[in-house]
Amino acid sequence: MSVVRINAITVPPERADELVERFARRAGEVAKMPGFEAFELLAPTDGRDVFLVYTRWRSQEDFDAWVASPAFRHGHRAHDTEGPVSSASELWSFDVVQHEDAAS
Ligand code: HEM
Repeated sequence: MSVVRINAITVPPERADELVERFARRAGEVAKMPGFEAFELLAPTDGRDVFLVYTRWRSQEDFDAWVASPAFRHGHRAHDTEGPVSSASELWSFDVVQHEDAAS
């Protein structure tokens, strides 16, 4: 079964649009990595100030390889060149225990 790795980023409300805009011009390199399965940027709609960057991988090793890769650094280059948008970030780790997609 796959693994889910979520970066939970706290973003002040006045900078939420800026975060979404940064992701709109994200590198898109993550999808080229071996073992990559899915990415979603989840914006809060219940008054929280935490955005979730959801990623799903074939294995922990695949996730670790992405984090150690130039693609990860490139995917976060605005963080280095334009400074952080977030005030905090936390990595959440899960195993997928069950999974089902809607029948197409
Ligand atoms: C200090 C920790 C982190 C912060 C503050 C952060 C924030 C950001 C921001 C603002 C972007 C948009 C691009 C940019 O501004 O450069 C981005 C890209 C991204 N982040 Fe993070 N991030 C962090 C670590 C992580 C981790 C541990 C994950 C793993 C779940 C992750 C997943 C992603 C993904 C998938 C992208 C898009 C990259 C691509 O399209 O290739 N981030 N992150």
